Amino acid sequence: MDRRYFLKGSLAAATTAAVSVATMRAAWARTSARPALPMPSLLDLTQSGRLDLVAQQGTHRFGQDSQPSSTFGYNQSYLGPIVRANQGQEIAARVRNDLPEPLATHWHGLLVPGEVDGGPHLAIDPGEAWKPVLFIDQPPATAWFHAHTHPNTARQVYSGLAGVFQISDGQDGERGLPHEHGVDDLTLVLQDRRFDDFGRLSYRLGMFDRMQGFRGDHIVVNGAPNPRTSIPRSIVRLRLLNGSNARIYHLRFDDGRPMHVMASDSGYWPEPVPTNELRMAPGERFEVLVDFSDGGDVSLLTGPDQNRGGPGMMGMMGNMRSFITGLVDDDLPILSFHPEGRKGAIDRMPEKIDDDLDQLPTNFARKREFSLDMMLGGMPMGRGMMGGDGAGPAMGINGRPFDMRHINEQVSLGTTEQWVIESDMLMHPFHIHGVRFRVLADETGQAPRLENRGYKDTVLVDGRAEVAVEFTQPAAPETPFMYHCHILEHEDAGMMGQFGVS
Ligand code: C2O
Ligand code: CU
Ligand code: CU
Repeated sequence: MDRRYFLKGSLAAATTAAVSVATMRAAWARTSARPALPMPSLLDLTQSGRLDLVAQQGTHRFGQDSQPSSTFGYNQSYLGPIVRANQGQEIAARVRNDLPEPLATHWHGLLVPGEVDGGPHLAIDPGEAWKPVLFIDQPPATAWFHAHTHPNTARQVYSGLAGVFQISDGQDGERGLPHEHGVDDLTLVLQDRRFDDFGRLSYRLGMFDRMQGFRGDHIVVNGAPNPRTSIPRSIVRLRLLNGSNARIYHLRFDDGRPMHVMASDSGYWPEPVPTNELRMAPGERFEVLVDFSDGGDVSLLTGPDQNRGGPGMMGMMGNMRSFITGLVDDDLPILSFHPEGRKGAIDRMPEKIDDDLDQLPTNFARKREFSLDMMLGGMPMGRGMMGGDGAGPAMGINGRPFDMRHINEQVSLGTTEQWVIESDMLMHPFHIHGVRFRVLADETGQAPRLENRGYKDTVLVDGRAEVAVEFTQPAAPETPFMYHCHILEHEDAGMMGQFGVS
């Protein structure tokens, strides 16, 4: 147990009235030692071309001393394997649903047609299997797959239905990139979770969670809370996925060492770019290179999540201030690294990784505007709200909550459009299925911030963002693509729309 965080937890508990998450943290964390970082097995499809996933119920112990939690996973009790396919491959996938409820499984970041995209229209009934054929026709990237069953995405993903999907071209050695899975190439699924006094996973939505999205007070990496790992004394690659429901990470190392960002959602950057802090919203992926050759121990942590809205939102949430303090104001430890005596394969930061990015497009077939609306039908505390399950606020896009039977937009295949997204009250990570895009403008008002360089499929909208989207994949009206807020409680509450491409 890291003493610093323990003290912080107890202090918060002593000074905060009412039920506070800090109390929970102290009670359970007191007895827990830092577990070893689990590394999901690599399911390499590059030879077989076959992907078999079974969504199943299971039990998972998050900490060494915790009681088992009932969870969901793909081929395992919590989360899924790390899948790797090659660019140019055709993958015969099979997803069997052994859960007691319907499940749609979406390939987030794969450029595949709507009919195999795994959106809410492609839900699999219990006991059934779905067999999409996926043609992998895109550059190397760290994508992922996760539950997308409307309106149960948040709970299903929280229970463990998510996995990483690596797209490779077999050239990482030539690029001078670390690529030994689990050794100097670590895949890290970051999620925040809440636990009860016995260390069991808990997901109970209060009004605050419904409004702001669910945030936990423990960061779990690949299913282990606040773990430790050893790594070679060299350059190590971290493939980071923010698989949280709502938390925005502000990643940094406790000794201030830089992360060299080398890839975003949809592919490599031309060269690694150093930064001391990396912001990461739900659904986003980054790959970073970190130099551990000095041999010192170092911890990755995340700063306060400031996504709590302006004065209006705070006023409304006023009686929950103590709760917010325990949940989002603190630094939280993520993962500690212990370099071993041994040297790794890569001891030089590569200078060049990929070709330069294309020029930003300036000609658009169309411009569309989207406003992300948090409060359709009045105040969330009022009665008669149109929430997805009747218990929360109704959210929507352009004044309209998600409706499976309504296609919101129709786009022409092969065109590039300018999409302008505006956020209401909070920052919202906006994701578009079946495409990759470039960020033209974000909250900085000038050149987009570091995180928004490169190809992406999810952008955090802080007020306003403009993206250039190229539509290369078709989607029929029966299986349209989605665009939505990737705060999963917002998505389930209706902050989602759908579009056809033909
Ligand atoms: Cu990662 Cu539509 O989702
Ligand atoms: Cu997606
Ligand atoms: Cu949102």
